[in-house]
This record gives sequence, C-alpha cells and structure tokens, in this order.
Amino acid sequence: MAFSYSEKVMDHFANPRNVGEIADADGVGEVGNSKCGDIMKMYLKIEGNTIVDVKFKTFGCGAAIATSSMATELIKGKTIDDALKLTNKAVMEALDGLPPVKVHCSVLAEQAIKSALSDYYTRQGIDPTPIVGDIGDHCDHCDHCE
Ligand code: FES
Repeated sequence: MAFSYSEKVMDHFANPRNVGEIADADGVGEVGNSKCGDIMKMYLKIEGNTIVDVKFKTFGCGAAIATSSMATELIKGKTIDDALKLTNKAVMEALDGLPPVKVHCSVLAEQAIKSALSDYYTRQGIDPTPIVGDIGDHCDHCDHCE
C-alpha cells in the first residue's frame, strides 16, 4: 500500500530515541496488538513524581517504532500526571501526523506508558485502576493490521 510518512516519522523510525531497557526500572509495561502481533515494552525510572528516565523496545512496524520514540521524548522529565494525559493523538501531532491506516500503531505507545505506570503503582501497593484507568491489552480500534 502506498502512503507517505512525515519527515519526523522517518527520523524517529531511522533514529529512534531512548531505545533499550532500564535494569532497575520502577515500572515496566508491555502491550501488544493482537491483530498484527506487534509488541511494545516500556521502562520507567521514577523519582518522586517525575519520570527521570524512560526506555522502550518495540518489535513492530515503523510507525510503532516512531510513535514509541516520540512518546518517550514527550514524557521524559515530565510528571506522572503529564504522562497519564499523553494521548496517541498528541504523539501523532508531534510527529506531524500518521497515515490513517497507521493511527492504531500510535495507540500502542499510549497503552505502553499507561501499562508501565500501572506496574509502578502496583509495585507501590496502590491499585492503579482508578488512577490509570482501563488500558486495554490489545488494539481494537480498527481492522487495518493483518
Ligand atoms: Fe501493528 Fe503498526 S503496530 S502494524
């Protein structure tokens, strides 16, 4: 299928930021898209209320890699509250948009952050559901993955 990516998407796909793992992470989240099989793993280092470091690993398509890269840039150094407010739409806007068939890939990035924050709260003995909300463990926003 022919569609074009913005320069920012191509840049974050070719040179993804914050790739890797954090060995002593305070929260780790993993989400997957059941239709395409892509998986995203997110590691957070949290001090006080601030996300001081974030790394990710994405086994997936170029749009999933670019959105996770941009998402990590958008939450690094920010508060947990800011990270919880980050939507896939904001990540897409920061990337100057995504082709419609790739919008669902950005959902994975939002879910991965929420999943990592859920893990963080669970480790603190706090029920994450009222804070983080329903993450969903798969992308069911569209039928575009094959
Ligand atoms: Fe599966 Fe992009 S996340 S095709």
